[in-house]
Amino acid sequence: MRLLHLLVCLLAGFSGFGQNNISLIPEPVSVVQKEGLFLLKDNGVIAIPANHPDAERVAHFLAAAITKATGYKTGIINDTTTADIHFNLYQTPDSDLSTEGYRLSVTPGAVSISANTAAGLFYGVQSFLQLLPKEIMSPSVVKNISWAAPCAEITDYPRFGWRGLMLDVSRHFFTKEEVKQFIDDMSRYKFNLLHLHLTDDQGWRIEIKSLPKLTSVGAWNVKKTGRFGTFSKPAADEPRDYGGFFTQDDIREIVQYAQDRFVNILPEVDMPGHSLAAIASYPELSCTPGADKYRVNSGEQFMVWPSGGHFYGLLDNTLCPANEKVYEFIDKVFTEIAALFPFEYIHMGGDETARNFWQKSEAIKALMKRENLKNLDEVQSYFVKRVEKIIESKGKKMIGWDEILQGGLAPNAAVMSWRGTKGGIEAAKQKHEVVMSPTTFAYLDYMQGDASLEPPVYATLRLNKAYRFEPVPDGVDPKYIKGGQANLWTEQIYNTRHMQYMLWPRALAIAESVWSPREKKNWNSFVPRVEKQFERFDMAGIKYSPALYDPIIKAGKGVNNLPVIELTTEIPGLDIYYSFDNSFPDHFYPEYTEPVIVPKDASMMKLITYRDGKPIGRMMVIPVAELKKRAGIK
Ligand code: ACM
Repeated sequence: MRLLHLLVCLLAGFSGFGQNNISLIPEPVSVVQKEGLFLLKDNGVIAIPANHPDAERVAHFLAAAITKATGYKTGIINDTTTADIHFNLYQTPDSDLSTEGYRLSVTPGAVSISANTAAGLFYGVQSFLQLLPKEIMSPSVVKNISWAAPCAEITDYPRFGWRGLMLDVSRHFFTKEEVKQFIDDMSRYKFNLLHLHLTDDQGWRIEIKSLPKLTSVGAWNVKKTGRFGTFSKPAADEPRDYGGFFTQDDIREIVQYAQDRFVNILPEVDMPGHSLAAIASYPELSCTPGADKYRVNSGEQFMVWPSGGHFYGLLDNTLCPANEKVYEFIDKVFTEIAALFPFEYIHMGGDETARNFWQKSEAIKALMKRENLKNLDEVQSYFVKRVEKIIESKGKKMIGWDEILQGGLAPNAAVMSWRGTKGGIEAAKQKHEVVMSPTTFAYLDYMQGDASLEPPVYATLRLNKAYRFEPVPDGVDPKYIKGGQANLWTEQIYNTRHMQYMLWPRALAIAESVWSPREKKNWNSFVPRVEKQFERFDMAGIKYSPALYDPIIKAGKGVNNLPVIELTTEIPGLDIYYSFDNSFPDHFYPEYTEPVIVPKDASMMKLITYRDGKPIGRMMVIPVAELKKRAGIK
């Protein structure tokens, strides 16, 4: 393995481009590297087409990025003859490029970015910034380096028009400034859609002027620390001062900030389930109303998820489909939401509705009789269809999680497939639009490495699996698949440092899955490109997970009922050292070469990976009792 690695390095060294090898994420459609370098210089000039404010905005974006890290002044002019960097918009659209594509030409004398639209120019700029040294990511001026970009001819355009990331701002609130930072970070990798999960049981995060209690009551819970979902029940006198919400001015500012970076915002108001914050504000929206009965959830358990069985609520967190006031409420909410968000879709949630309280409700029984609804799936479908009518009355299209298929899909609804790809496949068969975001490949709240190291979550999604995300399943007409997205639920994410850790590098894998041509995806080329991005994250002060350097541990049953441990790695070129004597292993310890039986009296296994003689993975410490549990040994 190590010899192969050495050979690869030597070959890279002899390729003639050395340090300036091109390394981009997402991988473009076509890259031809040329001899030579382009050097940024002080008082450089960007030439832009006349009378094109969007192109001018992209030029200001590039100039600001250059100035921040280099300290160089950069001018913007309309004169096309004398510039260092040229922006061109095709008069007759280049049909190879679609709306978001670009051509980037870097020569020793000048850079030119050509596109059909300003969005294409923006993506050309993002690729150009990735060609510059990692120091371009520095938040302050870096002196005494050569700001060189390798010469190249790049042609590029996206595979999908919907390239999304979802951020849950309900479970934990993130501020306007934090959301803007998120938009900057995602747009660097050519994501163009931010799905904001604005409401849930733990908080309502958007001002609705006609329903003020949604934010005076619904945006606040009790701050708890530890593992979400297991918190103690808040006492009546504990202060409810944890949370927050976006004012409508905040939303307008975020929307503008996103538009300036060619990012659409999809607002989600989750209903009829996940609605405890709304019900705590307006209890009459529940089928089981009652004064002083409902509080915004603070992370204490109130839903039960039996393995293999139906989940149910200990508290009713659903809007009541049998209550006309609920539809008046939804109308008010979507009137204001539709006016704030220019994007053509509104997301109505629709997932994980616990219906055990509906089962006993007289109002639901009467609704079923009146509307001839045979079961609770049909009750849910009745609700979703009415919501679709409301959303359409505001001039928007509706999208929902794949549970909206239950009981019959609303006539025009788009489906976001999260419980695997099954729902998406079914919706596409019914000729509905689909966005793929399956838990199996695209849930970024899952642990990304071994449970002994990662903050606990109930499932794992490693980088190499996220990289295998393929939005178009076999046998499905691709014209119904609008694209894909990854979802970042924030039950266990309390701050932006951990948000970044969970996003990166897996969001890079998703970015490549939704932008790059399918045949261009290649794990072995992706890994070194990820490591280049790590250097950039370090420079920018962005946190990321190093889990790809840690071993994958498989524990099985060996002789004499002892665990047998099989170790693999996600990436090539790593050596694993281990101990069973409680001391910390290093490269003088036994190297893993074949499955090992845990010694009879050992109580702890410790492991670490090295690369080229240096430690690179984290020290892993796993009790043998845990290994036995994983192996199914009593
Ligand atoms: C979901 O993850 N409940 C959509």
